[in-house]
Amino acid sequence: MAPSIPTLQPKQQSLNSHPPLQPNISITAITPATLPAYRRLITLLLPIRYPDKFYKDSVANPISSSLALCAVWNDAPPRKRKIETFDGSLCSAPTASEPTVIAGIQCRIESLPTPPTDSSPASTRSTLYIQTLATLSPYRSLGIATALLDAIVATALRHYSSSSGNVVEIYAHVWEANEDALEWYIKRGFRVEHAVIQGYYRKLRPSGARVVRRSLGVADWLRFGGIQDEMDSVGNGDTGEKGALESKDLMANG
Ligand SMILES: CC(C)(COP(=O)(O)OP(=O)(O)OC[C@H]1O[C@@H](n2cnc3c(N)ncnc32)[C@H](O)[C@@H]1OP(=O)(O)O)[C@@H](O)C(=O)NCCC(=O)NCCS
Repeated sequence: MAPSIPTLQPKQQSLNSHPPLQPNISITAITPATLPAYRRLITLLLPIRYPDKFYKDSVANPISSSLALCAVWNDAPPRKRKIETFDGSLCSAPTASEPTVIAGIQCRIESLPTPPTDSSPASTRSTLYIQTLATLSPYRSLGIATALLDAIVATALRHYSSSSGNVVEIYAHVWEANEDALEWYIKRGFRVEHAVIQGYYRKLRPSGARVVRRSLGVADWLRFGGIQDEMDSVGNGDTGEKGALESKDLMANG
């Protein structure tokens, strides 16, 4: 059954209307260590099957990896455990805790045709295409997908916009019956295009996709300009600790 879309008009949401993410959630580049869990999550939650190369690129390809992020859930700060020292006294040592991948996003940059009215031949326009965006169900409604989307938009504006060209819009395909996702995008300023792309999801019934699209403009530059330094450490594929971007920092600066 076709979803009833409440409105096709974008409604911009203020980033500051939500509390920061929980402190044990981190937004970070995908690494060889988190890649298998990211792949499982996407395979589980999205009806599109991506080839091995897609996932390899999310870590190894400099451009693809700069536009791929995951959210990890770090256990509560490790409880101190007592260890016995050489002289028989007791002292505390931290216990290790494994991060769990709970959400992911991956995008690509696509060139847009230059409009005939554009007098500057060197100017290029591009669009940011959301290939994957998903959060494991127990971790939904915590603001994680919003934080991932914001981080990717910030990276795109920072790294793929310049004097010679700009990333001017962002779009995604959504299964026509996925009302929750369509509403989620609408609440973040996306318009749902009227046309349904029939047969887009071969394994699903109905099989159609709707395109959700939003322009990127001055408001986005103002909103994300303050987190450029932090995004550098994620956007360049840094896989060390510095690459982990605490979500609370993102939200506070956005
Ligand atoms: C659509 C989907 C990605 C949303 O993920 P999510 O992590 O739950 O999304 P968010 O938490 O950012 O937003 C959901 C709600 O959390 C609430 N929220 C709670 N705390 C928040 C915070 N700190 N910041 C922002 N939002 C917060 C928001 O109010 C939001 O509700 P709203 O949409 O009514 O405004 C998720 O439902 C999903 O994975 N679905 C299956 C896969 C899919 O359909 N993907 C999209 C197609 S590509």
